[in-house]
Amino acid sequence: MLDTDFAPVDPNPRIAFHDYALDLSGFGQALLNGLSGLHKAIPCRFIYDARGSALFDRICELEEYYPTRTEIGILRRCAPDIARRVGPGAQLIELGGASSLKAEILLDALERPGAYVPIDISRDNLRSATRRLHLRRPDLSIHAVCADYAQPFALPPIEGGGRRLGFFPGSTIGNLQPDEAVSFLTDWAARLGPGAAMVVGVDLRKSTAVLERAYDDAQGVTAAFSKNVLVRANSELSADFNLDLFAHRARYDVEHGRIEIHLESLADQTAHVLGRAIALKAGERIHIEDSYKYSLAGFGDLAVAAGFAPEAVWTDPDQLFSVHYLVTPAALRNS
Ligand code: AVI
Repeated sequence: MLDTDFAPVDPNPRIAFHDYALDLSGFGQALLNGLSGLHKAIPCRFIYDARGSALFDRICELEEYYPTRTEIGILRRCAPDIARRVGPGAQLIELGGASSLKAEILLDALERPGAYVPIDISRDNLRSATRRLHLRRPDLSIHAVCADYAQPFALPPIEGGGRRLGFFPGSTIGNLQPDEAVSFLTDWAARLGPGAAMVVGVDLRKSTAVLERAYDDAQGVTAAFSKNVLVRANSELSADFNLDLFAHRARYDVEHGRIEIHLESLADQTAHVLGRAIALKAGERIHIEDSYKYSLAGFGDLAVAAGFAPEAVWTDPDQLFSVHYLVTPAALRNS
C-alpha cells in the first residue's frame, strides 16, 4: 500500500511511504507462551514500543554504552572507502532506519545516491524521521517502508541503475542467535540480489567488566529498558507486574561470547497476564535478551556461511566495534 500522506510536505514528491500492514497482535500470546514454561523468556522485540525506543535512544547516549559513538566514529572514517567500493547512484537500504543519523554519514559520502530506503517497524518514528530527512535533503529520493525487516516483503521497485547497499548498523545482528543471524543474512543476500553490498555493524568481544558496565549502567536506563516489556504488559494486556519486585541482571557469558539479560524475581510472587496467573519464585529469572559479541574472523565466517563475501572491515583503535563490508556474488544461486 502506498500512503500519500507525504504529499503536503512535497508537492512534487521525492518521498513515498510503503506501509505493509503489520501484525502486532502477537504480544499477548508470546508473553503467555514465554512465561508458562520452565525457563521463562520474553522475546526482546517486545521491548520496543514508543517508550522502549525512547529508552534505547537514551542508552545510546550513555557513557557506559560505547557501541553507538564508536560505530559512528568508524563510519565517519570508512564512509569514503565504502562510497568508492559501491560506486555512484547506490540505493541505500537501511534495516531499522527510523533514526537516520548513521545513514546520513553514508549518504554524505555516496556519489549521487539513487535512493534511501529506511525499513522500520515503528510507523510514527519512521514518518517523523523521513520528514526531517526530506527537509534536510529535498533532492534525495526516499522510499520509507513500514515493515518488520525480519519478515518477507517485497522491496519497492526503484528507478535507476545503482547498486543496492544494505545497511544494518548498531550490532542489532548480535540480538539474534548465531544460527538465526546466518539465516537472516542469507535471506537478505537473496533480497538484495546479485552484485549488491551490505554494511553491518558488529560489536566485538572484550573484557567482561567493559561489557557488563555497558549493559547495566549507573543511572538504571538499561534496567528501565528491560523492564519496559513488563510496563507494556501492564498497559496493553491488563497485567499486574510489580516492577519493584524485579531486578535487571546483565552477565557476560565468555564461552558463548554473549551478554545475557534477565529480569530476576526478588520474591515469591504471582502476577497475572490476560487473566492467567504467572507464579515466580524468588531468584527465578525471565530471559529478556542476548547480545552476541564476535571476533573479526568469527563474524567473517558467519557472513560467508550466509553466502556473502567479506570484502573489507574497519574497527576503532581500541577494537571495541567493527563495520563489515560484505558483497553478494555477481550471480546468486536460487536455493
Ligand atoms: C539493539 N541492540 C543492538 C542493543 C544491544 O546492544 O544489544 C540492545 C540493548 N539492550 C540493552 N542495551 C542495549
